[in-house]
Amino acid sequence: MNVLIIGGGVIGLAAARKLRLAGAGRITVLEKGRAGREASWAAAGMLAPDAETETVDAMYRLCRRSNELYSDFAERLADETGIDIELDRTGTICAAFSETEAKHLNNRLASQLAAGIRTESLSSADVARLEPRLSRDVSAAVLFPDNGQVENRKLVSALLEFARRNSVEVLEDSPADELLIRNGRAVGVSVKGESLEADAVVVAAGAWASKLLVKADVRCPQVTPVKGQIIAYEHFSAMRHVVYGAGGYLVPRRDCRLLVGATVEDAGFNTDVTADGVLSLRRSAERLLPELAGREPDDKWAGLRPYAGGGQPVIGAVPGVSGLFVATGHFRNGILLAPVTADLITEAVLNDSVPEIGRPFLPASGMEAAAS
Ligand code: GLY
Repeated sequence: MNVLIIGGGVIGLAAARKLRLAGAGRITVLEKGRAGREASWAAAGMLAPDAETETVDAMYRLCRRSNELYSDFAERLADETGIDIELDRTGTICAAFSETEAKHLNNRLASQLAAGIRTESLSSADVARLEPRLSRDVSAAVLFPDNGQVENRKLVSALLEFARRNSVEVLEDSPADELLIRNGRAVGVSVKGESLEADAVVVAAGAWASKLLVKADVRCPQVTPVKGQIIAYEHFSAMRHVVYGAGGYLVPRRDCRLLVGATVEDAGFNTDVTADGVLSLRRSAERLLPELAGREPDDKWAGLRPYAGGGQPVIGAVPGVSGLFVATGHFRNGILLAPVTADLITEAVLNDSVPEIGRPFLPASGMEAAAS
């Protein structure tokens, strides 16, 4: 089984790795620019199924499963490539600054505890002990001990190194012009006027996925870009946990960078960093960490999250076109969902099978949800 994957971000590269490990034949990843340099590079790498969930539903279960897969994924990647993706399970703190936020946090805590999610209410003394530099204005906080982060840029490097060592061909600067579909079957892709043939084609092109799918007139939920801007401070070693609060989040990295994210903007395919975006991120950062007041960030960037209906991913076989698969729409959870998406795509491509946990995310399910 020869497979063409369109999109060289963490979703496409993780799927390529899993397909290789499961015995697929020739695997080629087509990337329109540089592999892993779009949303996968721009992300903050949070693994936050519990901190970001409001309800225990199919999406939560998918996120949680992928979070559980991360320990093994990180360990194996280190063995396979020599690259440590800096999986960090210190835990994630959600902080409230007002009565309303505290009430919301506590209501959520109660329903999460009832659903068996590991979470702990923190007293002011706990917060001061865990993160002494956080603002004294934090009025309530909870800790999610199973959440954390990975260094997403190292994850990109590790997946590319795996590809290099395992004969997965990654073709950069190779934008797919169109899907080649004959008699209801995907047979390949045309790239710069040349046809590349394969037994299966996986569209893992993030925010760009719909461009190809719409052109080929296939039934699949529409995917649109949602811009996220991030700022970073260097030489900031004073924090250990990922912290949500004040309309943003802080991600402290092993190399002493502190990332602050992220805006959520409908701006088409524009990735400009804006003064308003930076200002809003600085306000969140300074509210959480008063010592940052007046300090200019050292870096800033933006990326495009792929958004499909309801912020849920679309993963699996495209109805009506055999041999065509999609893995996109991961929105805020692309880094988190990479391992489980790789498993689901591998099952779909090699075994024509859909594990229970993946059923709600099939392209056909997304179409029904979008229509209802
Ligand atoms: N995962 C957080 C974000 O997309 O901003």
